[in-house]
Amino acid sequence: MEQVMRDSFLFLSKNKAMTKLAKKYGLRFGASRFVAGENVKLAMKAIRDLNNKDLSVTLDYLGEFVDNEREANEMADNCIEAIEAISREGVDAQVSLKMTSMGLDISDELVMRNMRRILNSAKENNVFVTIDMEDYSRCGKTIDIFKQLKSEYDNVGTVIQAYLYRTEQDMQELNEYSPNLRLVKGAYKESPEVAFPEKKDVDENFKKIIKMHMLNGNYTAIATHDEHIIQYTRRLAWEHNIPHDQFEFQMLYGIRSERQEEIAKEGYKMRVYVPYGTDWYGYFMRRLAERPANVAFVLRGVLKK
Ligand code: FDA
Repeated sequence: MEQVMRDSFLFLSKNKAMTKLAKKYGLRFGASRFVAGENVKLAMKAIRDLNNKDLSVTLDYLGEFVDNEREANEMADNCIEAIEAISREGVDAQVSLKMTSMGLDISDELVMRNMRRILNSAKENNVFVTIDMEDYSRCGKTIDIFKQLKSEYDNVGTVIQAYLYRTEQDMQELNEYSPNLRLVKGAYKESPEVAFPEKKDVDENFKKIIKMHMLNGNYTAIATHDEHIIQYTRRLAWEHNIPHDQFEFQMLYGIRSERQEEIAKEGYKMRVYVPYGTDWYGYFMRRLAERPANVAFVLRGVLKK
């Protein structure tokens, strides 16, 4: 039953008509638990509140699967607005973005132009940018573009998903770039031809790539709410004398918030992924797919209307 709900939410996350409706009607159905607000001002407030609790942030202007040049350019402008606001307000935050929102599905020339605009602004303002990883069909291209950008800029990292079979090979090839990587389990619905279908295999591969990247001496962001993985990483760091400034934990805004504060108090760097903007629908559906128990929040949200 849980698997059916998961698959349904992942299917719904790609529905373009719902995405458009959601943009029009604003944050609904309990989405504000996971999304900081619809504009940069509200995002800055959320960042300050988190910074006051010793939590760092990566800020994400929501948007994905953009299919026209005008919208891709606007998305890049919004990203630059966020970078400038971070610098102006002196908050402890980086930026995350999706390349499909910068024109990945439209043309190589467009996505590279937008990415360079963003990374130039980020460099000027001393802000780090992480390229989120999307579904499997875009993975190879995202990694190729990342390699190109990493040879031009220091302030860029990307994400690697433990559920993909290709991941170990990607990590080996990326090692020569000494990349700052965020490691995750993976959030999209993928076929068993390209991704481990069993959770236990994903968890094992997750541990394997965490160990690989940390022992190679690269900066590692371990992005998970899974306590076993958190404890595994702490043990690994302790056993191999890996300094606390070579890795960080990351969690999503609104998920395990108390645990986020505890981890920071225990002396680890803890970064919260804070999404904002009007294009909240796909992101919200993926969060529900990860934990159908959160549907209770949605139902409460609907009943309040
Ligand atoms: P898992 O899903 O196994 O959950 C472990 C435990 O965490 C659960 O038992 C529960 O206690 C708690 N939990 C998990 N989800 C919850 C929820 N929604 N509500 C309440 N409790 C919850 N993916 C991707 O494909 N590309 C990307 O770029 C990113 N980026 C990214 C950034 C950050 C900062 C995070 C934390 C995650 C991502 N992800 C991602 C998502 C990631 O791939 C994965 O889908 C989620 O993190 C869920 O997996 P967990 O590792 O948390 O474990």
